[in-house]
Amino acid sequence: MSTLLVTGGAGFIGSNFVRQALERTDHDVLVLDKLTYAGNLASLEDLPSDRFRFERGDIADADLVARLVGGLDPATDAIVHFAAESHNDNSLEGPRPFIDTNVVGTFTLIEAARRRDIRFHHISTDEVYGDLELDDPGRFTELTAYRPSSPYSSTKAASDLLVAAWVRSFGLRATISGCSNNYGPFQHVEKFIPRQITNILRGRRPKLYGTGRNVRDWIHVDDHNSAVLAILERGRIGETYLIGADGERDNLDVVGTILEVMGRDRDAYDLVGDRPGHDLRYAIDASKLRAETGWAPGTTDFREGLARTVEWYRANEAWWAPQKDATEARYAEIGR
Ligand code: NAD
Ligand code: DAU
Repeated sequence: MSTLLVTGGAGFIGSNFVRQALERTDHDVLVLDKLTYAGNLASLEDLPSDRFRFERGDIADADLVARLVGGLDPATDAIVHFAAESHNDNSLEGPRPFIDTNVVGTFTLIEAARRRDIRFHHISTDEVYGDLELDDPGRFTELTAYRPSSPYSSTKAASDLLVAAWVRSFGLRATISGCSNNYGPFQHVEKFIPRQITNILRGRRPKLYGTGRNVRDWIHVDDHNSAVLAILERGRIGETYLIGADGERDNLDVVGTILEVMGRDRDAYDLVGDRPGHDLRYAIDASKLRAETGWAPGTTDFREGLARTVEWYRANEAWWAPQKDATEARYAEIGR
């Protein structure tokens, strides 16, 4: 491969992917990003200008997408599709952009990719499988039935089904990955971990939804992205791979660890109202990915990964401060 067209490359995971791809591979990178409230060009500063280009635009704009995909070489290039409306709370307040971007946008990209026979990798999520009981000994695998709960996860599920159908009906050379909850630098302050870190940095208390007993399976963003590179290099066309790093923790424990790392009492948080339809537990079995690609996560100590993330937010207030007040004002409107 020589060029990767990365959609959503100005977002959290996409911008970290661009940096890792430029550091670890020989590919050039072309980012297509609409720069919604979640996209930030400051996440893409200091990249080598001879290997990196940025195009502002909508993945649902068929003419623009056809032009960019028209410049790719089917023999060497690939599309890595991160762009999405990604936040569950927003999808409950206004689902329409989730349909437009996650469903229509993905459709637009795979139509362009199949016309030019371009290799396609679709970034999805464990949330398409719904949730597990706290005491369920099982975890999600690639064979778990789809059972999405929210407008966000249902649109991600719809996009996965489109990609799978395009593989079968049109021979699209695609793979899909479903990852668990990511944390690390450049994550928008609307999300759980950066919201709590920046609350504490601002002298506010962390906010836990409901009882705080909900469980997420945390993975460092660099490990998600190294898995995506492994799938691009060694994944089998038509296959789905789940990405996870055995990082299950309930939200109470995550907030307690953040507070401790930041030198506060573990119980210095507030319980607030719950998210409607709030998924109880996610858990990933990544055996297939590990066995087929040899991938393994680099960050296995969550507390250490979290401490590095806290330091990043402490050192980069100029990156997150412009979004903080507006984000908290939106949460105040919905009582969370
Ligand atoms: P994000 O919200 O931080 O970034 C999304 C990016 O997509 C932004 O730069 C935004 O400007 C861009 N975008 C949105 N709509 C667009 C459009 N119509 N056209 C072009 N660009 C558009 O999201 P994220 O957390 O980095 O997630 C990236 C991908 O990974 C998503 O597909 C998400 O479903 C998936 N995912 C996220 C997580 C997680 O924990 N954050 C876990 C698993 C999977
Ligand atoms: O599992 C993968 C998914 O992880 C991705 O597909 C999504 O794009 C990503 O946003 C994330 O979804 P969640 O809904 O799990 O993430 P969020 O950061 O919104 O919330 C994580 C948990 O923390 C969840 O149980 C809700 C809770 N929460 C969240 C916020 C923002 C709180 O308790 N307080 C908060 O302030």
